[in-house]
Amino acid sequence: MTLIFAHRGSAGTHPENTMSAFKEAARVGADGIETDVQLSKDGEVVIIHDEKLDRTTNASGYVKNRTLMELKTLNASSNYKGKWGKEKIPTLEELLIWLNNNQLFCNIELKNTLFPYPGLEEKVIRLIRAYQMEERIILSSFNHYSLVHCHRLAPEMETAPLYRDGLYMPWIYAKAIGGSAIHPNIRVAPDVIIRASLSMGVPVRPYTINKEAEMKRLYKLGCSGIITDFPEAAVRIREGLKSK
Ligand code: G3P
Ligand code: CA
Repeated sequence: MTLIFAHRGSAGTHPENTMSAFKEAARVGADGIETDVQLSKDGEVVIIHDEKLDRTTNASGYVKNRTLMELKTLNASSNYKGKWGKEKIPTLEELLIWLNNNQLFCNIELKNTLFPYPGLEEKVIRLIRAYQMEERIILSSFNHYSLVHCHRLAPEMETAPLYRDGLYMPWIYAKAIGGSAIHPNIRVAPDVIIRASLSMGVPVRPYTINKEAEMKRLYKLGCSGIITDFPEAAVRIREGLKSK
């Protein structure tokens, strides 16, 4: 069965990367969530997508220039119109504590291409181990040096390179860097690549799958997972195919 990962939580319906978005993913029956981590000025692992605060909060400037205490005063739903009250930027630890109460998988994307965030890999892995979440976590990044570092630190954990330009035999590349799966942009995930990767035992979880036709194509292919902003629709469409 194709697993459904809610992108930044249920980002299509709720303020991205907030506990509301993650809880919505659980409510609608997603199999997992995808989220993004960076480091605060004082070295805490925080959950936010952009390096800058401007798009998703009521502040501006870089995440890395604010302490956790400062980040916690911000509203992570301020730029969303509608019914949202104040949403705080979660820490990874807060997310892991919540995950302890359910069975969701969690794809943690290390956002360390613009800024390398030295020590991010060690901190993320230490937290995952502290909460004994190794079996439910997939580490991914566009920074493949960072993924190799993760693999060396924690070979028991699954790593998956993210990529947005076409790769030749990406399943071989993934294995070469210690990865166990591939997370391609949907634009570079044609049927032939998905089928070949699956046949070589390398799971494929493309992003960001928001169109019904794309979901159906990937479900029918038996793709390992999809990463979507709309987990409720993804679950409904998957159920619909099952009953046919
Ligand atoms: O992990 C898939 C996807 O989240 C990667 O792109 O920019 O949404 O973090 P982005
Ligand atoms: Ca992401």
